[in-house]
Amino acid sequence: QTRYLKDYAPPPYAVSAIQLRFELFEESARVTSTLEMQRQHRQDEAGQTPLMLDGHDMTLHSVTLDGQKLDTDAYIVEPERLVIANPPERFTLEIVTSSKPQDNASLEGLYRSGDMFCTQCEAEGFRKITYYPDRPDVMAPYTVTIEADKARYPTLLSNGNRIDGGDLPDGRRFAVWQDPFPKPSYLFALVAGNLGCLRDAFITQSGRRVALELYAREQDVAQCHHAMAALKKSMRWDEERFGREYDLDVYMIVAVGDFNMGAMENKGLNIFNTKYVLANPDTATDSEYEGIDSVIAHEYFHNWSGNRVTCRDWFQLSLKEGLTVFRDQEFSSDIVSGPVQRINDVRVLRSHQFPEDAGPTAHPVQPDSYIEINNFYTNTVYNKGAEVVRMLQTLLGRDGFRKGLDLYFERHDGQAVTVEEFISAMEAANGRALTQFRLWYVQAGTPQVRAALSHDAASQRLTLTLRQSCPATPGQSFKQPFHIPIATALLDQQGQAIPLRLVGESNAAPAPTERVLELRATEESFHFDGVAQMPTPSLLRGFSAPVKLDAQLDNAQLAFLWAHDSDPFNRWESGQEYATRVMLGLVAARARGDSLNLDENFVDAFRACLQDDALDPALRALALTLPSEGHLMERMTLADPQAAHAIRSFVRAQLSVRLEAELLTAYHAFRVAGAYRYAPLDAGRRALRNLCLDLLLAGQDSAAETLALNHYHNADNMTDRLAAITPIIHGGLPHSDKLIADFYIHCASSANALDKWFSIQASAPLPDALPRVRALMTHQDFSLRNPNKVRAVIGAFCGGNPVRFHDASGAGYAFLAEQVLALDAANPQAAARMVALMSRWRRFRRDLAELMQKQLQRILTQDKLSNDVYEIVSKSLNAP
Ligand code: ARG
Ligand code: ZN
Repeated sequence: QTRYLKDYAPPPYAVSAIQLRFELFEESARVTSTLEMQRQHRQDEAGQTPLMLDGHDMTLHSVTLDGQKLDTDAYIVEPERLVIANPPERFTLEIVTSSKPQDNASLEGLYRSGDMFCTQCEAEGFRKITYYPDRPDVMAPYTVTIEADKARYPTLLSNGNRIDGGDLPDGRRFAVWQDPFPKPSYLFALVAGNLGCLRDAFITQSGRRVALELYAREQDVAQCHHAMAALKKSMRWDEERFGREYDLDVYMIVAVGDFNMGAMENKGLNIFNTKYVLANPDTATDSEYEGIDSVIAHEYFHNWSGNRVTCRDWFQLSLKEGLTVFRDQEFSSDIVSGPVQRINDVRVLRSHQFPEDAGPTAHPVQPDSYIEINNFYTNTVYNKGAEVVRMLQTLLGRDGFRKGLDLYFERHDGQAVTVEEFISAMEAANGRALTQFRLWYVQAGTPQVRAALSHDAASQRLTLTLRQSCPATPGQSFKQPFHIPIATALLDQQGQAIPLRLVGESNAAPAPTERVLELRATEESFHFDGVAQMPTPSLLRGFSAPVKLDAQLDNAQLAFLWAHDSDPFNRWESGQEYATRVMLGLVAARARGDSLNLDENFVDAFRACLQDDALDPALRALALTLPSEGHLMERMTLADPQAAHAIRSFVRAQLSVRLEAELLTAYHAFRVAGAYRYAPLDAGRRALRNLCLDLLLAGQDSAAETLALNHYHNADNMTDRLAAITPIIHGGLPHSDKLIADFYIHCASSANALDKWFSIQASAPLPDALPRVRALMTHQDFSLRNPNKVRAVIGAFCGGNPVRFHDASGAGYAFLAEQVLALDAANPQAAARMVALMSRWRRFRRDLAELMQKQLQRILTQDKLSNDVYEIVSKSLNAP
């Protein structure tokens, strides 16, 4: 059943208060909900307004209206809701239900993770806890009582402030929590367990003291310090950058091992996947430390962009997610390094969102329909949504954007609103219309921009012509032109950006060397005066818009920009584009059966970058990372995983042999002195050094393997260990099996470390990959019930091992289909994420496409398919 944005209607009943009482037992959980409700308006002609409460997968015990227990014929219980025909204008409703959290494998609603009870309500999980108007525009203050066995569950948590607690008969205990901020049901949370706690405090800018509490299993508390530091940094940063202060007396985070996503911003009580909380040098890599900073910040920032101001309906999801991703990206950019962060954010966008935008499940940042909302927590809603917010900041300037955001929070604090209200606030605060800009929210697809330069030496005039187009996406065959900010510079032969004076502009003030050109029409030309020679264009600097740019540069120009562009993003970009072209040329040569030869100019440019000591090591590591196989496949007419793998391996091996001395020198030069600690500068050096090591091993010589073995044995941290063994295990080098066994011992005591032990094997591009993956799934530490393990094994193989997953036999696809069906019965969200790995089957080589199509069809014929999987599979098969 499809839901449409155009069908939105305000809720017929409001809830002015909700009281919940949870009685938790080993076999069941009993929930008593007491609602104060008021009718908002008459609905049908008969003047009746039926009350419809969402709910499913529960046992209903009783319904009591204004103290009167209702007979079973006074209401209707449907599979997904409870209907009371015509209640009075205002009334108190008490509903008693129960469920079995221990059997709830969907990890949605109230469920168990190990020894604890926890919840996940976004988007529509609350309806598995009790019957309720489970929609974000119904907001109410919550009072929650939790009762449980005292010895097993000494920690009882919910949103807001703890106002009461104590002992009960029979060795039980209770706690009462009150959240004064009205909130939608998706922000409700509850935790009961035997947990350790790391405590700290934060003084807000206005001088209020906030208790900070990080809960985890007792033995994991020692791994919470990085997360705590991240939380304090986030709180300070949001005050300084956006003037946003925290509002409750306590901020709690609980780490749980079984969680579908990264984390959840429940008011005052965030629940986190352990992957984004726990870290020590032996269990977490540098990039996982960064991931913790960014997810802690993300959930914290939601307190304003999401909780204080929330979404009217789920079509507005990007209102909170796009904005909050933008905010966490800006935070990371301030604490790590701006350019490094920007490049990494764009890599994610390009590798995940661009393909999504070009595939059968493409949708606008503000979708207009869905079957299952859980399928819309996508790269488009999150990451493209963040790019759209970033463009607003680019167009309005930092100050203008801040004014707009202040106005948005001021106008809508305590409300559930739409994307439209966000844009209106930006317009009102800046006195500027953003009519055309709104198209970014409603048109799907990645726009393409083509740039052409022409120079007239006599008049010293340069003309830059930009032309945009956007491919059709499902349901949208025609697109109107977008409003695209294009940050532009023109470089002279020394790589200096020249002044950009638009024709007709006064020359009283010095002209800027970078300007944001605004492309609005399908084609526009910009004319610049005083340009003596044809420059090299540096366009879309900092990736100023989520588009595909064709600047029509040749390899020599790309090499020049790779070496000289003063915009760090475009330096990286030019290197990537140069490498991509070289590799695609080799793919073509391989297809013709020609002998392969890696261009000397490319090797020279690569060497120059490696040796450019003016370039920060972290940036250098990024600039020297070859485009992925996935990236190459995106650029082929039909994706050929075998060709992409063969060519990328060939180029790596060539660089290894031809730059061996230089790589070895850099490897030694970038050693990090002293014991491991996570710090961005150290992480950058490690990244560059480990990249050199990886390339040295690509030549498959035994001296390099010895170097890696020493690297492994001398390592005092996960980053270096993983870097040392990955090329050995992925290359199937002689020490591989021994290292797998040894690495297991390092990982055995931590579930998050074990995930890396699993995924390094599942992603090894070796001929026996699939049998190995099947064997891993029988390992005692694997569980199909745990999403992190599913990602570490099935995800790592099907998403991170293209050459083996796309084996011409089709065995990889049959495996995935089998796993999707097994998962779907228990955890539809996890199943849908996995099946999406086949959704772009039409992009592939014919023989592969047909094999994938067959498996998708096989899945579709199963009965009892979840909405989640059904939506992805049917859209994939039906889209042209
Ligand atoms: N709001 C959470 C976040 O981005 C994501 C939770 C989504 N959960 C889900 N089951 N769809 O921070
Ligand atoms: Zn979020």
